[in-house]
Amino acid sequence: MAPRDATLRYADRVADIEPFRVVEVLERATALASAGRDIVHMAAGEPDFATAGPIVEAGRAALARGETHYSQAAGIPPLREALSRHYADTYGLDVPPSRIMVTPGASGALLLIAALLINPGDGMLMTDPGYPCNRHFMRLVEGRGQLVPVGASSNYQLTGALVEQHWRDNTVGAMVASPANPTGTALNRDELADLSRAVRGRGGHLLVDEIYHGLGYEASTPSVLEVDPDAFVINSFSKYFGMTGWRLGWLVAPEAAVAEMEKMAQNLFISMSTMAQYAALAGFEPGTRDILEERREIFRQRRDFLLPAIQDIGFQVPCKPQGAFYIYADASRFTADSQAFCLRLLEEHGVALTPGLDFGHHRAGEHLRFSYTTGLPRLELAVERLAKVLA
Ligand SMILES: Cc1ncc(COP(=O)(O)O)c(C=O)c1O
Repeated sequence: MAPRDATLRYADRVADIEPFRVVEVLERATALASAGRDIVHMAAGEPDFATAGPIVEAGRAALARGETHYSQAAGIPPLREALSRHYADTYGLDVPPSRIMVTPGASGALLLIAALLINPGDGMLMTDPGYPCNRHFMRLVEGRGQLVPVGASSNYQLTGALVEQHWRDNTVGAMVASPANPTGTALNRDELADLSRAVRGRGGHLLVDEIYHGLGYEASTPSVLEVDPDAFVINSFSKYFGMTGWRLGWLVAPEAAVAEMEKMAQNLFISMSTMAQYAALAGFEPGTRDILEERREIFRQRRDFLLPAIQDIGFQVPCKPQGAFYIYADASRFTADSQAFCLRLLEEHGVALTPGLDFGHHRAGEHLRFSYTTGLPRLELAVERLAKVLA
């Protein structure tokens, strides 16, 4: 990464926003690969599959038709309608298109929600470990992520009791992801209801990031909207739909909040990529769904291989990941410095993993995230290499 220019004066928030530590691992991996080393990449936060053919074709057709102008700030109506049908078909929920806003990725949804809810000094409860950008979005709008250390006893998730225990005078809500990054753990309906009760009891907002929905491998993953219709939901075309580079997501919010957020979206984004929105429509066609479901099954097979394999060589994984494409492994038998350990595994054994330090502070030096975003033969090779070093 380029060094910071010390002669320029930056806003205070810049110093509080941390870079992704994994970038150091990835840059080194690229250098090693260009020097001829074979690197197994297990540090990605995105599917290894290219976007499904019908979605690409729909994007191409949109370009050919000249869909190259701005679109409505809340998204094109057919996509909002398709998402509304998606809530009916998948969860049996009636979510009118007017409550759905298309956004530039889940990242855009997070920014809009933070801008809507957070005043300077406000706090938002969130898990540690958790997706690091969440606390940085809060900081960007002069709020604070209030990190709650979580572990196996709560399936790495917030609970109603934890919300009660950690709520402060300045707390305005709680935020979870289900399934979560980096742990893959999910909340069932009762757990979501428990969380909702605790947050609502305090007059707070509940934010649930459902970006890994569709990539669940156990029982179906409920939406928080099944138990709390006023919760804010963050979602995306990035993961299940395999469209990370297209930059398209969505949010579901109470009706009045959408009107306010639309105003902010007009100012912040004007529009999402119009072509990407027309492409995403194809994501709901039956032929595309078959491709995406096949890919989900491939991810499940990879998880079912990788989880016992890394446990066999000494990593502890106290909570079985129920979704996403990650395993958050306790490597305390081997290290207390996950960054140095990742660099060593890369340098000496050609396996790229993400250090736990990227996901917070709580025991972060003792954890690694394995992404199963490469094919089974490569995962087998990685385990073989790691087994040698850790023996
Ligand atoms: C939990 C979680 N939320 C949000 C995002 C942002 O996703 P995007 O902006 O690509 O939709 C990610 C990306 O890895 C994530 O893991």
